[in-house]
Amino acid sequence: MKASGEDGKAPAGGPWEECFEAAVQLALRAGQIIRKALSEEKCVSTKTSAADLVTETDRVVEALILQELQTRFPSHGLSSVHCRFIAEEAAAAGAKCVLTPSPTWIVDPIDGTCNFVHRFPTVAVSIGFAVNQELEFGVIYHCTEERLYTGRRGQGAFCNGQRLRVSGETDLSKALVLTEIGPRRDPATLKLFLSNMERLLHAGAHGVRVIGSSTLALCHLAAGTADAYYQFGLHCWDLAAATVIIREAGGVVMDTSGGPLDLMSCRVVAAGTREMAVLIAQALQTINYGRDDER
Ligand code: IPD
Repeated sequence: MKASGEDGKAPAGGPWEECFEAAVQLALRAGQIIRKALSEEKCVSTKTSAADLVTETDRVVEALILQELQTRFPSHGLSSVHCRFIAEEAAAAGAKCVLTPSPTWIVDPIDGTCNFVHRFPTVAVSIGFAVNQELEFGVIYHCTEERLYTGRRGQGAFCNGQRLRVSGETDLSKALVLTEIGPRRDPATLKLFLSNMERLLHAGAHGVRVIGSSTLALCHLAAGTADAYYQFGLHCWDLAAATVIIREAGGVVMDTSGGPLDLMSCRVVAAGTREMAVLIAQALQTINYGRDDER
């Protein structure tokens, strides 16, 4: 499997090369486990709502990724700074999500768990890495289509060795827009969710799609096969890796207020162009999901 670079040749070095290569290898290993488990019986539990699911495979894959990374990278750099971890199932079990200047791995073991439970083959592993609160690289593996998306700051974004490029669309009335529902199903949240979708359709968007995986929807944006994405209720582990990939593919990732992205704010607008991102942000009503770093 080609990680990045034309003809499989990874762009040269960079200070976090070894970490990037480890993330690629772990995403591929995790993908094998998820692919095998997709068709098997699953033990499913719920987390914050009846639609927020977790399986034993989420936990097994997360444990594998974190154990490997902790063993290989107990510390980072000359100052032996200890690396930190933010991971979906650890957070569900009560671990704090705080992005400090330390090198930090941000892991979603299965993005699209609801799809996974239903054997709907749109599931991914997502591994992001930040240093000094800046995202350095992202690795997302579409487990069933065996597509490896990567992005490294300043070094471009790739899928199976092919360079990614966002669409240049600026006109909302020509846009294909992606979103995700988020975990809540209370009437007030659903009303706002549907009304946001209705606003974009009234503005003339060609379509609004929900595929069940925030990270893979964001990869469509990076690949130019969709023009925009927005969501309330996603988490930093859904967003970290994809943000690097989109930016390196030439796209824009911002807050739904139109301001800079806040990885912990549980909301995002992303688009191939700033014009499109601003149009989407202006159309949206806020759904308040709180913050990842305040739970
Ligand atoms: C979820 C999926 C879902 C989105 C949620 C995410 P998970 O991630 O991406 O499509 O609506 O906001 O948290 O729970 O499958 O890792």
